[in-house]
Amino acid sequence: MVMKKLVVLTGAGMSAESGIGTFRDAGGLWEKYKIDDVATPNAWHRNPGLVLDFYNQRRKQLFTVEPNAGHLVLAELEKHFEVQIITQNVDNLHERAGSTNILHLHGELMKVRSTNVSAEVFDILPDKLEINIGDNCPKGFQLRPHIVWFGEAVPEIEKAEHLTAEADVLVIIGTSLQVYPAAGLIHNAKPNIPIFLIDPHEIANLPANVSVIQKGASEGMKELKKILLKN
Ligand code: OAD
Repeated sequence: MVMKKLVVLTGAGMSAESGIGTFRDAGGLWEKYKIDDVATPNAWHRNPGLVLDFYNQRRKQLFTVEPNAGHLVLAELEKHFEVQIITQNVDNLHERAGSTNILHLHGELMKVRSTNVSAEVFDILPDKLEINIGDNCPKGFQLRPHIVWFGEAVPEIEKAEHLTAEADVLVIIGTSLQVYPAAGLIHNAKPNIPIFLIDPHEIANLPANVSVIQKGASEGMKELKKILLKN
């Protein structure tokens, strides 16, 4: 039997119930930090130590949290669908929940890359979670977080567009859809496929064919699983 393709776009709300705060909700990360101080190429040139510290903290936090029921239901759906996750999240909770096809649009906390033009990417080992000034790649170039900062290109976007265009069902979970190009992916879906959006808050300007499940990721995914397995 050929399984239907379920493409799932996730954002920070996917990991909220695991204890990782979102960016734009009240009390979110962008209320505590200025994007310009920690998440742009300019920030890196002005004060790389501050940027490294910001991502060192985020990385260490990963070891204090676990995937939530929403992540687990998504992983389970691989028994019934060909599931492709496209995540804006830089955490590793989809991986740890057991999902196998994950495209990270905005980079990964557990990777690091060289500031050399060749930009080689390396895994970070759990026994050394911090990157500091002076931590260099084997060719002697400073290492930087493997994160797509504001103002930088999103290298995986074309792949994400193609994957979205192949979806038989599109699911969007926990993203404010305010950051492009990720927010534009919904427009790559074939017309007339079912699109579901899970978010406890109202998302403005959604296309008319989107079915909204106005719940958190865990409850929302349990409800969606029932809907999907009925059909
Ligand atoms: P946002 O913080 O903009 O949006 C989080 C969304 O999650 C909102 O729509 C919330 O309503 C929703 N949410 C909150 N709690 C939830 C829960 N328990 N279950 C499900 N949803 C919940 O985060 P993103 O849309 O992911 O990029 O932000 C996009 C990008 O902007 C991020 O990848 C990051 C950020 O700046 C970079 O750092 C490059």
